[in-house]
Amino acid sequence: MIELHNVSLKYGEKEILNKVSLTVKDNNIKAILGPSGVGKSTILKLMLGLIKPNSGQVIVDGTDITNMKEISLYAIRRKMGMVFQGNALFDSMTIAQNLGFFLRENLKLPEKEIIERVTEQIQFAGLEGYEDQLPESLSGGMRKRVAIGRALIFKPHMILFDEPTAGLDPVSSKKILSLINSLRANNNLGAVIVTHIIDDVFNVADTVAVLYKGEIIFDDVTEKLHDAQHPFIRSILSDKILEV
Ligand SMILES: Nc1ncnc2c1ncn2[C@@H]1O[C@H](COP(=O)(O)OP(=O)(O)OP(=O)(O)O)[C@@H](O)[C@H]1O
Ligand SMILES: [Mg+2]
Repeated sequence: MIELHNVSLKYGEKEILNKVSLTVKDNNIKAILGPSGVGKSTILKLMLGLIKPNSGQVIVDGTDITNMKEISLYAIRRKMGMVFQGNALFDSMTIAQNLGFFLRENLKLPEKEIIERVTEQIQFAGLEGYEDQLPESLSGGMRKRVAIGRALIFKPHMILFDEPTAGLDPVSSKKILSLINSLRANNNLGAVIVTHIIDDVFNVADTVAVLYKGEIIFDDVTEKLHDAQHPFIRSILSDKILEV
């Protein structure tokens, strides 16, 4: 479980988050919806302890990580898989090497177990036959699936997605969303999906928080978004997509 309590954050003089509180439960898919530049990626960085808030607390599985030192944060980050907006794959490594990289480098697992876990993720992500290809020869949707497989290979408790469908065509987006939905079969795995695409929210999220001008203006089960009265939410429901 990840909790933000009254988190405020400024970049220089610019106030980005103003007393933001959020809870992401295990076994639950939570979307954070908001326009471009509102601070969505910043929230994911706070959850990973990559940046520190000016005030408030960030709590992961009951541990306050707000002022935790970098060395202690490694163990915390291992609980969380991160899928970056640009995927962050290694261009010169094959798909199988990309998937196994952090297991080899960080966990130093026996090679047999690495191969088993890589094979499991290749199957989960539907990448059979592409093991020895380089990322550049894959479509955007397939690269995203590699990034998801790589985030899952540590067997995290929580997976964080930054704009998982941005820039993908509708068919590839659908595949990514159904892959995210299939995470539900994995007991206790929670997910955070940061997005500006409202269809993503309705397709995968159990709950949704809407971030607008530094504040959470809605946080509830996804179906209730239809009844929200805030003018910004009314406008995104009619336009379907926020400006990028
Ligand atoms: N390291 C930084 N220093 C100064 N300003 C920053 C920094 N990182 C982000 N910002 C600014 O803070 C605001 C929030 O950034 P953030 O990347 O969290 O937004 P976002 O909601 O993820 O946007 P997008 O939809 O474009 O991905 C933006 O205006 C951005 O320009
Ligand atoms: Mg962002």
